[in-house]
Amino acid sequence: MSTNRMGRRAFLQASAGGAASLAMIEGSASGAEATGSSKPALLGGEPTHKGPFPSWPQIDERHEQVWQEVLKKRGWCRLNGDYVERFEAEYAKTIGTKFCLAVANGTSALIASLNALGVGPGDEVLVPPYTFVATINAVLLQYALPVFVDTDPETFQMDATRVEAAITERTRAILPVHLGGNVVDMDTLLAVSKKHNIPVIEDACQAHFAEWRGKRVASLGDTGCFSFQVTKNLCSGEGGALMTNREDLIERAGSFHTNGRPWGAKSGFGYVRNGSNLRMTEFQGALLLEQLPRVEAQSQIREQNAAHLTKRIEAIPGIRPAKSYEGTTRNAYHLYMFRYDPEQFAGLSRDRFREALSAEGIPNMSGYTPLNEQPFMKETLYSRGFVNVYGKETIDAYFGRIACPENDRLCTQGVWFTQNMLLGPRSDMDDIADAIERIHAHAKELIA
Ligand SMILES: Cc1ncc(COP(=O)(O)O)c(C=O)c1O
Repeated sequence: MSTNRMGRRAFLQASAGGAASLAMIEGSASGAEATGSSKPALLGGEPTHKGPFPSWPQIDERHEQVWQEVLKKRGWCRLNGDYVERFEAEYAKTIGTKFCLAVANGTSALIASLNALGVGPGDEVLVPPYTFVATINAVLLQYALPVFVDTDPETFQMDATRVEAAITERTRAILPVHLGGNVVDMDTLLAVSKKHNIPVIEDACQAHFAEWRGKRVASLGDTGCFSFQVTKNLCSGEGGALMTNREDLIERAGSFHTNGRPWGAKSGFGYVRNGSNLRMTEFQGALLLEQLPRVEAQSQIREQNAAHLTKRIEAIPGIRPAKSYEGTTRNAYHLYMFRYDPEQFAGLSRDRFREALSAEGIPNMSGYTPLNEQPFMKETLYSRGFVNVYGKETIDAYFGRIACPENDRLCTQGVWFTQNMLLGPRSDMDDIADAIERIHAHAKELIA
């Protein structure tokens, strides 16, 4: 752990939003079963966790009812219904922005944001390398250059202290991602944005209801983008939203998303600009209206469970849960992320650790690989269109300035649990911690 750095910055806390009471969640809190001493499931022992974790998405008969409603009304498109509009009004109120534009998915929200801000060929956008590929694709689709800012391994977030050094005269936007529902250091990031007068697009696709100093993320930048893809903490299969307080941006993005019609027009053939069709369907709007009131309670459960899990597993040598910056008043825990150190597990590789964890009944993922090193980056940037815009020399130079060594290391260490695993009883968290303790106790034998 980079203790020097931690000391200098002194603004990380062990678990964000930890103020919430743990009392709500029932179940065994002991976690003291002596699983550490019993044989790991991978070597023939009984799995620590029997039965599934909570399924996702959670549905009930109300979902069927609202779909039937939309179906029967026959107004399946937002141009002849009002579910999407009602969702936009509710969601803007919930997130704390003046405007919300519902769109087809999170990628569309990012594209509409970049378009509304005029980002295009010849421009640079500062992005993290530790994110879902859509963040980068949205930039590449504008024929702009995604310039990678290294990751803070303590938090898994774009390191806001490195943003200023990455700014050039071409930089047209900063695109931080609140990864896993955790929050970027927005004080530092917004100060740099203000100083250089560069707009901020928050990628909050994984961070519904996450907060920075009491304000919901996606309300802090010039725009904020959500995804409602089926795995997300608020979901409708596919879907997305662009949030903003700026009237010029809602007008540009709103028009862009409906073929260049004036924002708010439901019909007609008069166009105020070029555009695309990124509209959300009424089915999605109706589902989201139904799901929205459930998110607060679910967020609290995730936070409480995550706090308990952190308390238990941070005590295990070699397990370092992601921290949150001091300004984070809520982590949305779309992902529970931690770093795994094989040296503290007798040299047990991350792959074998994960295999042992799966055998214990604990599903897990290894997380992202470095986006800046993906082969498609070279294919894209040396394509005819990019070379026409930038010239080969600029592209060569670009590849010389996007190394992210901290992120490279993090990608070899990360382990994730998905948000639905945090929605069950506290005994589920104890099972996860017991399983890791057991693997730790038997690490030597587990080396294949
Ligand atoms: C960080 C991030 N950005 C953007 C997206 C894109 O959202 P969508 O899949 O809804 O297009 C996602 C979704 O997975 C995401 O996780």
